Amino acid sequence: MTLRQLLPSCVLTLFLVTPGAAQQAADAVAPEDDTGVSTFDDLTDAAANAFALKEAGEPVVSDNWMVAAANPLAVEAGADVLANGGTAADAMVAVQAVLGLVEPQSSGLGGGAFLVWYDATTGEMTTLDGRETAPLAATPTLFQDENGERLAFFDAVVGGLSVGTPGTPKLMEDAHRRWGRSNWADLLAPAIALAEDGFTVSPRMANSIASDAERLQRFPATAAYFFPEGTALAAGDTLQNPDYADTLRQIATRGTDAFYTGAIAEDIIATIRNAEGNPGVLSTLDLALYDVIERDPVCVVYRAYEVCGMGPPSSGALTVGQILGIVNNFNLDDPADPETWRLIGDASRLAFADRGRYMADTDFVPMPTQGLVDPLYLEERAGLIEGDRTDGFVALPEVAPGNPEWDHAQLWGDDVSIEFPSTSHISIVDSYGNALSMTTTIENGFGSRLFVRGFLLNNELTDFSFATHNDGYPIANRIEPGKRPRSSMAPTIVTQDGQPVLVIGSPGGSRIIGYVAKTIIAHLDWGMDVQQAIAMPHLVNRFGTYDVEEGTDAADFEAPLAELGYEVSVRSLNSGLHAISIGNTLQGGADPRREGIAIGE
Ligand code: GLY
Repeated sequence: MTLRQLLPSCVLTLFLVTPGAAQQAADAVAPEDDTGVSTFDDLTDAAANAFALKEAGEPVVSDNWMVAAANPLAVEAGADVLANGGTAADAMVAVQAVLGLVEPQSSGLGGGAFLVWYDATTGEMTTLDGRETAPLAATPTLFQDENGERLAFFDAVVGGLSVGTPGTPKLMEDAHRRWGRSNWADLLAPAIALAEDGFTVSPRMANSIASDAERLQRFPATAAYFFPEGTALAAGDTLQNPDYADTLRQIATRGTDAFYTGAIAEDIIATIRNAEGNPGVLSTLDLALYDVIERDPVCVVYRAYEVCGMGPPSSGALTVGQILGIVNNFNLDDPADPETWRLIGDASRLAFADRGRYMADTDFVPMPTQGLVDPLYLEERAGLIEGDRTDGFVALPEVAPGNPEWDHAQLWGDDVSIEFPSTSHISIVDSYGNALSMTTTIENGFGSRLFVRGFLLNNELTDFSFATHNDGYPIANRIEPGKRPRSSMAPTIVTQDGQPVLVIGSPGGSRIIGYVAKTIIAHLDWGMDVQQAIAMPHLVNRFGTYDVEEGTDAADFEAPLAELGYEVSVRSLNSGLHAISIGNTLQGGADPRREGIAIGE
């Protein structure tokens, strides 16, 4: 085998070249078919060239606290809170409020989020579901035309139909109420100041705008903000957002009631219902009824660790957990050996097959949640990929969902929904030893493209299956009133002997699952520090092509993986991993593929 060793190359790898930059920018908005092939083709050269990937460096090391997220202004706001004795929940509020301003294409008040919390005082793990909900007026055929045909993806996304009740404001408030120590209004002050004084538009934000120019200009309020006087905002421009400052000020004073009821709520609903060409059905009642739900964490044993994350309606922890639970039955010593990637790739395919059939909002559909991560079930699934390449064992020719144990028999059809790589991830450890992992989204880049009161509204409802049945069987992730769409977001906290050792998560649509699993394996099995593990080139299989990262050593696996029987796609893989490892010191890492940083003290 002539492949260079991945381990030493991971920090030297070719992150300074940008052959994948066009795809990377396109990922913010690109439609993909079920095999993961992008069909977005109107990206400008200027947008493509402005992405300069940073070289992976050393992790940031500190003793007391650490925060890592997708934009330096947001991380600085969180760091100030932590330096002044705030908790990780306090810092999250400050970080999220600033992200909604400076990275509006990825997350914000108009979106939803999942949060995993490790409490140093009790040793307990809690997960909070701040996912968007389907309107009470929604029907399973929301995204079908009068002939029962599924709408084209962007016909569903752009406008009011795709908007679910936002959960992020309430999640911020709920987390602060449970675990905060700082004054609520003070936590929103940095974002209010930046919105009033103006902030510098980042290259990533500018490129996202340039690559989505047509859709962003369909609605007057959105066009006016992102295209002042008809020209796209450019990197380096100073941008003010007084409406956002006003919204945050009202939330600072009156809590999120100011968002979910009253004038702001009425404006949100009017914007959705009056969206020209594609009005939605969300109502003020949907907003008024919204609540964050505390759910049981989903945990799996991996090596000497426990990997815990967000259960349904996210498929994140279950699918990451299935991958890890399956490869836990094998030795993965050598990241340069294609056999290692056969095991990870086929474990991923098996996990995604189960995801497509079983995973959805458990408040609406019965699900074998524990059965899916039962070690005996995963050992049985691992048996399908056992083998020795010297005996000619290759990639599984066919992959089907398994039959996990559950106490409620139900036949489901396989799911056909699509997800996109926008979204953002925040990892925080505070000086009290609490750890927070939160993945936050408005779904597609710029969500529904509807802009109201200084923020964008999500298009999260397109994470539901557009079809209601497959082969006559109902699809678990079909739309129902009040239901939460299945997610891939995988905010994760890894523990050893009950103590947190790694806080991690990523954006990336359904590739989130592969990014998080790979980075956990790289850190725990291959001994990479968090920065190396994050920067290590990606190889991801979502039950379609085996995607290997363009412009990196991962592309060397193209031929060996093809020989094993995979269809291989060499492409940009636009993760946004932010992680903190916890040992004698805290070590923070930020994904060189995006603009984030880690700060610690
Ligand atoms: N909309 C991205 C996700 O929830 O996975």
